Amino acid sequence: MSPATNLKTFRSARTADFTESVIREMTRLAVRHGAVNLAQGFPDFPAPVDLKQAAIDSINADHNQYPITWGVKPFRDAIAQKYRRTYSLEVDPETEVTVVCGATEGMIASLLATTDEGDEIIVFEPFYENYHPDLLLCGAKRKLVRLHPPDWNFDRAELRAAFSQRTKAIIINTPNNPTGKVFSLDELTYIASLCQEFDALAITDEIYEHITYDGCRHIPMITLPGMRNRSILVNSLSKTFSVTGWRVGWVIAAPELTAGVRKVHDFLTVGAATPLQYAGIFALSLPDQYYESVTREYEDRRRFAMEMLSSAGFNCYTPHGAYYLMSDYRAISDKSDTDFALALVQEGGVAAVPGSSFYVSSSGINLIRFCFCKKYETLISAGKKLARFGRP
Ligand SMILES: Cc1ncc(COP(=O)(O)O)c(C=O)c1O
Repeated sequence: MSPATNLKTFRSARTADFTESVIREMTRLAVRHGAVNLAQGFPDFPAPVDLKQAAIDSINADHNQYPITWGVKPFRDAIAQKYRRTYSLEVDPETEVTVVCGATEGMIASLLATTDEGDEIIVFEPFYENYHPDLLLCGAKRKLVRLHPPDWNFDRAELRAAFSQRTKAIIINTPNNPTGKVFSLDELTYIASLCQEFDALAITDEIYEHITYDGCRHIPMITLPGMRNRSILVNSLSKTFSVTGWRVGWVIAAPELTAGVRKVHDFLTVGAATPLQYAGIFALSLPDQYYESVTREYEDRRRFAMEMLSSAGFNCYTPHGAYYLMSDYRAISDKSDTDFALALVQEGGVAAVPGSSFYVSSSGINLIRFCFCKKYETLISAGKKLARFGRP
């Protein structure tokens, strides 16, 4: 055997700039310090009983082998049916739907299928942290456009200036993590006009589609005029059905785009878990009342969490969708957001995510993100700790 070399030299240049996910790191710290985890966006309450039974039944029915790589036919049919029912959108399950391992795989498969080295991708900042490594893996160049608090609006001239002949796509996450922004029809129409003018795609992460408040409604970009063939819609069961660990999602796009996504997906993962795809058929057949109850329950949790954070001294920006609260902590501390988050988990017993992990440049971001997709007892326990920490 030859002498050991520096193993770091085997690391690919493509992944050299990867950092650990701050969100998942905060979860590990929460476990280490026995803190309440309001960092990672997963529910700590049970998934719907009938949905769990559907998963058990499908395992017992022996749906346990490799699925067709782009998803079992009845699940693709159920996805098409759901979009017809909710958005009057006709999609062909044979050529326009790919079942993937969560929106996470849906995003990277869509980007790998459509981008080449040096292509420009526009991303609104703050952004969900996975988009950064996704673009590094593709070799694409990121062009950032800021969303400004308190309403997280963007400057139209700045967005227009970000588009160029090199723009391949814009990533739109609505309802948005971490800001809770729900892009309006007017905003989406403007973005759609730029996509058409500059011949660019819209890749939309719609994982919080059913979690909206204050009368805001989610609008899939693919339903807007002129966008049917230049949108790639990414979604999953994770958030709507409280099954983030199932890893079942889907991508909807025109046949030419779907063909590319399917190839990447096939060689990345072969397929999403077969029995859970069958359970997904049950999930998507639930009546509209299910979605209404999801919205109502999260709206109540939002109110509760905002009151709890305000009384502990945080200044929250009201989210109109998703289940996160971006909160300004300057009334409590003048620490950097990372130091503040560390102190909060170590001394305060509550894990949250430093706001800078959603920005490229971390300076001057005095924000911390809490999630409220938790049992009331978890929120109450966090509230007591935050009150002690925030107002000693
Ligand atoms: C905006 C956004 N996209 C994607 C994901 C991950 O989705 P999935 O569990 O379907 O992979 C998350 C999870 O928090 C998210 O917030």
